[in-house]
Amino acid sequence: RLSEALAAIDVAQTIDALEAQRVAALGKSGWVSALLKTLGGMTPEERQVEGPRIQGLRAAVSDAIDAKKAALEAAALDAQLAREVIDLTLPAPAAPKGSIHPVSQVMDELAEIFADMGFSVASGPEIEDDWHNFTSLNMPESHPARAMHDTFYFPDEGPEVAGAPTRMVLRTHTSPVQIRAMTQQGAPLRVIAPGRVYRSDSDATHTPMFHQVEGLVIDEGIHLGHLKWTLETFLKAFFEREDIVLRLRPSYFPFTEPSVEVDVGWQDVNGRRVLGGDGDAPGHGWMELLGSGMVNRRVLEFAGLDPDKWQGFAFGVGVDRLAMLKYGMDDLRAFFDGDGRWLAHYGFDP
Ligand code: PHE
Repeated sequence: RLSEALAAIDVAQTIDALEAQRVAALGKSGWVSALLKTLGGMTPEERQVEGPRIQGLRAAVSDAIDAKKAALEAAALDAQLAREVIDLTLPAPAAPKGSIHPVSQVMDELAEIFADMGFSVASGPEIEDDWHNFTSLNMPESHPARAMHDTFYFPDEGPEVAGAPTRMVLRTHTSPVQIRAMTQQGAPLRVIAPGRVYRSDSDATHTPMFHQVEGLVIDEGIHLGHLKWTLETFLKAFFEREDIVLRLRPSYFPFTEPSVEVDVGWQDVNGRRVLGGDGDAPGHGWMELLGSGMVNRRVLEFAGLDPDKWQGFAFGVGVDRLAMLKYGMDDLRAFFDGDGRWLAHYGFDP
C-alpha cells in the first residue's frame, strides 16, 4: 500500500492531484487514518509493535507529499518567471509629460524682470485675515471700498489680529502682502508678490480664482516718476517691444494717494489689437492695464513706518490678463480647464 501511494504522489502533476492523494491517505476516511483507528482494538503488546509502524507510514506519506508540493511550486514559479520575462531593450512608449502653465511662465518672467531692477519676491497667505486684507489697507469695517471686492468670507470668527478678533477671508488681492513685507522687512524695500486671489465673480473675463502680482517700493524721496519709469521698464521687457506707451489717469484706491490707473497704448494690426504705440494716434487706442499709486501715509503707519521719512509706490496687475495679452489668448476660463490641447494650441508643449 505504501509503495503504491508513494508512486501516485510522485506522478502527481498538479497541486490539486497531490491534494487528492493526501485525502486518500491521511483524510478522515483515508487508508492511513483507518489503520490508526485499528490501534484502539489491539492488545498493549500488539500496539507496541503496530503503533510505531503505522505512525511511520503516516510520516512517510506526509513527507512525500510535502516534498512533492515544494517541487510543484518551484516548477510553477520557474514557469511564471519564464512567461513574464521582460525585454528591457524594447523601446518604451513615450509617457505624456506636463509643461509649464502660461500663468506660471508669466510669474517666472515677472520675477526675472523685476529681479533685474533689484526686487525680491515676497509672499503671504491665501487665507488671509480681514485686518491684513482690508483694515490695514485703510479700509475699516463698513468702508464702501470693501464692497468693490466680492469677498469670500469664512463663517466663523478668526484669531485676534492687531488687538481685535478678525474674520478670515480668501484674500481678494495681493495688497495684504504689502503690509506683511513692510512689517517683516522694514524699509527700504523693493518687492513683488505674485499669487492667487479670490473674488466671487465668474464670466468670460472673470474667474473666482485668478492671479495678481503686487509691486511695492519703499524708500526716501520716492515719487510718481519712479512708478512710471518702473512700469515702463517692466512692460517693455515683458512685451519685448520698445514702443510701449503709458497713460496715467487719476483714480481711487483707499491704500494709495494719489492713485493712478495705468493705460497702455495699442494699435490695430490686421484687425488685431497689438500693444505698442501712442494710444491717441489714428487707428490706436488705450487699454486699462493696472491700478497703482503712492502708498497712503495711513498704510505706512499701519505697517509701523514713519510716513515723514519713507515714501513709496505700489501697483497691482492681473497676471492672467498679462498672459492673455502676451500670448493672444481670449477666454480666461480656459486657463483653469486643464486641457492639454489648449496648452498645445498656444505653443505650451503639453
Ligand atoms: N489691489 C488693487 C486691486 O486689487 C490693485 C492695486 C494695487 C492698486 C496696489 C493700487 C496699488 O485692484
